[in-house]
Amino acid sequence: MFLAAAVRSAASQAARQVRSLHRSAVRAGAGGIFVHRDTPDNNPDTPFEFTEENKKRIEAIISMYPEGHKQAATIPVLDVAQRQHGWLPISAMNKVAEVLEVAPMRVYEVATFYTMFLRQPVGKYFIQICTTTPCMLCNSDSILEAIQNKLGIKVGETTADKMFTLIEVECLGACVNAPMVQINDNYYEDLTPKDIEDIIDELKAGRVPPPGPRGGRFSCEPAGGLTSLTEPPKGPGFGVRSDL
Ligand code: FES
Repeated sequence: MFLAAAVRSAASQAARQVRSLHRSAVRAGAGGIFVHRDTPDNNPDTPFEFTEENKKRIEAIISMYPEGHKQAATIPVLDVAQRQHGWLPISAMNKVAEVLEVAPMRVYEVATFYTMFLRQPVGKYFIQICTTTPCMLCNSDSILEAIQNKLGIKVGETTADKMFTLIEVECLGACVNAPMVQINDNYYEDLTPKDIEDIIDELKAGRVPPPGPRGGRFSCEPAGGLTSLTEPPKGPGFGVRSDL
């Protein structure tokens, strides 16, 4: 009887000690699940070899790191592989591991962590919408809704014509120009729902709209206009005493 009470007490204490674990939402989208599953198009035998030009590029990248630290080139070499193939089948990651002389797991760890690495094919235009706090406070939800309505897809999906893939990502480092999206290598910033609809229309028409802020400001100048450095600089020598 004493033993049963002790077991119950230990069980209830253990239950109280269980912390609620933080769990990220399953990453829907181009990166897909974290665990690789072989498919007919993505397995260790999927053909992948670097082009001669990219082999030279990789040599140049590796030469920037100290002897014995090839692994430090994992991100740029994965990027070369992705730009060559369009996305990263497991055979490309294995090739990167071979080139860098590291265990394949070291490459998988990197490729599964960063949303920039695509472990599934994506559409011609890969839209990454940032919904982290500064963008969210500037109504990134309205931009997300506009994209979904315009393209008829949800986050993690690709349009039937394989033109657009949409994913939701964390901060892309352009918070001062929130809300923003990245489409392929371009940032589109200070967006309104109308802006993103216009951008999608341009892309559908085969034109790539100029990247940057849409509200008329230059780069990340203050949204309310300049408050300092309002005149062109006077040039070198300004303010230097001529008698010295
Ligand atoms: S929060 Fe969106 S770019 Fe930083």
